[in-house]
Amino acid sequence: MFDADRHGRWADLMDDITALILDDHAAFRRGFARLDDADDPRGQAAVWEPLARHLEIHAEAEEAILYPHLIRRGGPDADDETEDALRDHNKIRDAIAESRRHDTGSDAWWRAVWVARRENSEHLAEEEDEALPDFRGHASDELRAELAVQWLAFYAEHPGGRGLRVTDKDPEKFVEDNS
Ligand SMILES: [Fe+2]
Repeated sequence: MFDADRHGRWADLMDDITALILDDHAAFRRGFARLDDADDPRGQAAVWEPLARHLEIHAEAEEAILYPHLIRRGGPDADDETEDALRDHNKIRDAIAESRRHDTGSDAWWRAVWVARRENSEHLAEEEDEALPDFRGHASDELRAELAVQWLAFYAEHPGGRGLRVTDKDPEKFVEDNS
């Protein structure tokens, strides 16, 4: 477990988890924008496949590292914010899975990618305007730094999503299990 005294200097220097999450969100926006300029299946796959993997890893990382702490420490809306996030993550995961059932660049593929894009855009705004401010308002700097380390470790343990189980989750049960 992270020891804030032993790693005090690191904790001071470290990004906090909410900054790392915002970095991912910026990468998602750039990824979807890049897709606008990808005009053949090879280019579309080159943009979409890593973007889809990144979206999946990010959602699992948030569910493993951020939301359990938000539920326990956040304000009175933390449970609702978490359930909203989980519902959004499920929709994004389902759209990604649907995209994989179709040839890259086909109409059905684009439809699934657009569902993922739309759901993701809505989700980022909600998370940035509700869940993250709530977490910043209630978590200590030490916890934010500790979770940043856990976040980086999660990504290091699942390079390109390797070994990661991507699963939809029941939002209410998730809140119950983590309360
Ligand atoms: Fe997020």
